[in-house]
Amino acid sequence: MSDLCNEARSIGEFLVSARDADEYRAMFDLTDGDLTGRVLDCPGGGASFTATACARGVDAVAVDPVYAAPPAALIAQLDAELARGAAWTQATADRYLWDFYGAPAAHARRRGESAQVFAADLLAHPKRYVPASLPHLPFPDGSFDLVLSSHLLFTYADRLDHDWHRAAMQEMVRVSRGRVRVFPLVDQAGARLTGLVENLVSEMSAAGVVASLRPVPFEFQQGAREMLELDVSRQR
Ligand SMILES: C[S@@+](CC[C@H](N)C(=O)[O-])C[C@H]1O[C@@H](n2cnc3c(N)ncnc32)[C@H](O)[C@@H]1O
Repeated sequence: MSDLCNEARSIGEFLVSARDADEYRAMFDLTDGDLTGRVLDCPGGGASFTATACARGVDAVAVDPVYAAPPAALIAQLDAELARGAAWTQATADRYLWDFYGAPAAHARRRGESAQVFAADLLAHPKRYVPASLPHLPFPDGSFDLVLSSHLLFTYADRLDHDWHRAAMQEMVRVSRGRVRVFPLVDQAGARLTGLVENLVSEMSAAGVVASLRPVPFEFQQGAREMLELDVSRQR
């Protein structure tokens, strides 16, 4: 495929989801100490992480290609995407572990509440939501203390190839002066991708970035209990 997967192919193929700050905290094993300085959520989608983090005094911004749409259109699209996501989760409920969410209905309700927080913040603070696409981020080198990336890399490895993943990671490393965290390390079907994670860890290590797999206190897709951390502050 490549040409960097035709710039990640058309975004309509990617579900726009809306996780909340507590989900981010669990997925990325975040402590209060991690959430200081400048934080990038990439991709932000309809997640309320940035809104909640900013409300708590963190200097957070989000990136996603869908932010190029007018806010009203994006909010309407998000409603449809949440319905699509809820139907998918309900239909495939036996693939997931429900300790964190309880049940599909509670999961869907939580996504809806998170999307409302996102929508209100998008309207009130549009500059926090930057339209852009990996692997090209419109920020100078070393702009962020922490870069978080959930449910794009690996999740869509059926359509985003190895070259794209490498370029996306290099770009997140470029804009970071601290840490980059990526979750999950499985695809949409919950499969660990043979060699992809390990090859990328080797490539990043060879480029002088300290890369490690770290356990997280969250498991929804069965077996997805690890994040990939790139520690740019210790770059060799
Ligand atoms: C499943 S959502 C995840 C959103 C958010 N992180 C969350 O967990 O709720 C995937 C997002 O990736 C975005 N996306 C697709 N291609 C992208 C790219 N090349 N760079 C950045 N974001 C992209 C989509 O628009 C979509 O909002």
